[in-house]
Parts: sequence; structure tokens; C-alpha cells
Amino acid sequence: MLVWAPFLILVLCATTLAGAAQEATQTVWDGVYTEEQAARGAVLYRQACRKCHFGDLSGAGDPDATPGEVPPGLVGFAFSSRWNELSLADLFLAIARGMPSDRPGTLTPEATADVVSYILNRNAFPAGSKELPPEPERLEQILISNQR
Ligand code: HEC
Repeated sequence: MLVWAPFLILVLCATTLAGAAQEATQTVWDGVYTEEQAARGAVLYRQACRKCHFGDLSGAGDPDATPGEVPPGLVGFAFSSRWNELSLADLFLAIARGMPSDRPGTLTPEATADVVSYILNRNAFPAGSKELPPEPERLEQILISNQR
């Protein structure tokens, strides 16, 4: 029985690794949204997000800010240091549940996916031919990564 232990451990490790690899089948470099979708997201962003996160997505612009609650930047280092190695579902759900912080829960899933597309676009991740789906289960398979 003891002879089998190392073999079993190997099999278990291989299975776990295969599982992890299956979770994320794409990254944000694979063209996971369309230009059109990002353009729709830009309109929504101007209406629902800009007053706090700014037109250049640099953040820190809430005129009625609660002390200690600063809207973070959504581009560049502010974006990558928060979201690198997380999935698009994490970003999608953070927005769906908490934003706009003065009216949380008011965006439809489709509008949320459009805004996420706009944020990806402004972070210079390439557009593609298929729209970003508004379903967290599917967004879980797309990894946000600094690396191409
Ligand atoms: C009234 C001001 C305000 C508006 C409007 C607003 N935000 Fe925010 N946002 C904040 C503040 C404050 C935080 C930081 C506290 C928090 O995470 O709740 C934040 C955090 C975030 C985060 C980071 C969450 C995290 O978990 O790190 C994202 C992403 C975000 N906002 C996106 C958006 C989007 C997209 C919109 C428009 C649909 C939006 N916000 C509208 C104030 C705002």
C-alpha cells in the first residue's frame, strides 16, 4: 500500500493542475470584447462613473467623498496592482455589486459588461470580434494579466 502513495500524490497533483488550467481558458489579451461594446460602455461610464473616477479613469474625484473612501484609478498601475491575476468575474462582480457607489445595483448585467469592456479598452487590451458576456460563470474563465 505504501508503495502506491507517491504515485497517488503525483496523480492528485496532476489532476489539481489540470483543474486550475481549465478554469482560465483565455486572458484579456485575447480580444474578449468588441469596439462597439466598449463605445457603449464609454457612454455609460460618462453617465454613471466619471464624476468619481474621472474622465481619464485616474480616480479620486468624488465631490461628495466620504473621508477614507477614495475612488481608485481604473487604468495603468492602479488597475494592474488591484486586478492582475484575478478573473474578469471578480471585476464584473465588484462593479455589479458596489458601483456606482451612490446607486449600487442599478446597472443591468449587460451594462456592467459594457463598462468592463470600456475599462479593458482604456487599459489597451485589444478588442476582438465577440462581445464580453454578461455572465460571471463565463467571465471566470478570462484571466486579467499584465503578461501577454
Ligand atoms: C459616487 C462616487 C462613485 C461613483 C459614481 C462610482 N464609483 Fe466606483 N468607487 C467609488 C469609491 C469611493 C470606491 C472605493 C471604495 C469601494 O471599493 O467601494 C470605488 C471603487 C471602485 C472599483 C474598485 C472596487 C474594488 O473592489 O477594488 C471599481 C472597479 C469601480 N469603483 C468602478 C466603478 C464604475 C465602473 C462605476 C460606474 C458604473 C463607478 N465605479 C461609479 C466611488 C464611485
